[in-house]
Amino acid sequence: MTETKPKIDIDVLASLAKRRGFIFQSSEIYGGLGSTWDYGPLGVELKRNVKELWWRHFVLGRDDMVGLDSAVLMHPKVWEASGHVSSFSDPLVECKNCHHRFREDHLDGEVCPDCGGELMEARQFNLMFKTFLGPVEETASEAYLRPETAQGIFVNFENVMTTTRRKPPFGIAQVGKAFRNEVTPRNFTFRSREFEQMEMEFFVHPDEERQWFDYWLDARHAWYASLGINPERLRRREHAGDELAHYASYTTDVEYKFPFGWAELEGVANRGNFDLTQHGEHSGKDQAYFDPARNEKYVPSVIETSAGLDRTLLTVLADAYDVDEVGGDERTVLRLAPHLAPTQVAVFPLSKKLAEPARKLTDDLRGQFHAVYDDSGSIGKRYRREDEVGTPFCVTFDFESLDDNAVTVRDRDTTEQERIGLDQLAEYLGGRIGR
Ligand code: GAP
Repeated sequence: MTETKPKIDIDVLASLAKRRGFIFQSSEIYGGLGSTWDYGPLGVELKRNVKELWWRHFVLGRDDMVGLDSAVLMHPKVWEASGHVSSFSDPLVECKNCHHRFREDHLDGEVCPDCGGELMEARQFNLMFKTFLGPVEETASEAYLRPETAQGIFVNFENVMTTTRRKPPFGIAQVGKAFRNEVTPRNFTFRSREFEQMEMEFFVHPDEERQWFDYWLDARHAWYASLGINPERLRRREHAGDELAHYASYTTDVEYKFPFGWAELEGVANRGNFDLTQHGEHSGKDQAYFDPARNEKYVPSVIETSAGLDRTLLTVLADAYDVDEVGGDERTVLRLAPHLAPTQVAVFPLSKKLAEPARKLTDDLRGQFHAVYDDSGSIGKRYRREDEVGTPFCVTFDFESLDDNAVTVRDRDTTEQERIGLDQLAEYLGGRIGR
């Protein structure tokens, strides 16, 4: 077996993702809806695995973090207070000739990249999707689809703190959909109009901002490596003053080297007391905290870690994609970390005559692993199918298995095979798959 790490093309990845049921374009039979995506049977499992790992690690695994699931629709005043109505916009330019529109900060030259025409002056374009509550479409009933999950956390700060008897330093985490009317969505799911975020807002004393910022940046960077992502394709990049969001005093992105270049995977930001102060002022409900130990009243500072779930999935897929050679034939393989793989074990009967015991074995394994059964085509073809979707282990039940109560386990990455007793199989797989 020789390894040749290919230069991955994002379109090749998109086509694999579609062909194997990871990601489909939304409403495809109607020609598709721009930059919205549906997760197929394998994509939804991969997504669930990433989400659950994040939740287990950062919420259930900690004493200083609690979870939340707030509504997508929020009071319109939230977005005035948060600054999104006035500041959450991109500079938009239009070509005078072909009327195509572009984000000014994504343009390389001074002319239209599509036709070379002259460009109009830039104007600000707000990225929030507007909708109406109730049957009357009037200004008084306007509402927005949230462009970040964070605000649901800030407006529940007091509710959560009092009901859980927490005090700073502590955090609130949530996973949920966010919506942005992106001007130039592109690169498969990288910039979508509907996507999921995994956000944590960590409330601290103002004197402790920097130490918690450094702590969370390290923790979040390390988490990506724990997903099996090549650490050499991860880096940090601090925001320059002119690219900081309106709420942040400093921000560092964790970036990944995507097929189209280095780009943001997650932002870790010091939001200071901007959001709580704004909500205190706009709602008339003071968001300050009285700390009896310090005998001091203060508005906590917030260290935010904001990750994109869809972007993490794109990263996991791009990083896992590989082409090598097995037995003189080229094969495409997704080298997904075994604990993330949508299918962890595939069970094959060598012959359809062995269907019954092989199905029973699959059912036994299902309790503990994501297991599938496959009896169609040659064993070689079945291996290729599973390699392409990243299944780390294939188990073949052959005629000998009836006598020796053992099966052949084949490793996706090395393609090596081992004979394992049926009574040892679950423990063996559990040890290799890990968590
Ligand atoms: N609450 C802070 C916040 O939303 P952001 O940098 O705008 O900060 C955080 O977004 C993360 O959300 C990004 O790092 C990215 O992973 C994800 N994200 C943002 N916009 C996205 C989009 N249009 N499509 C997919 N993911 C997106």
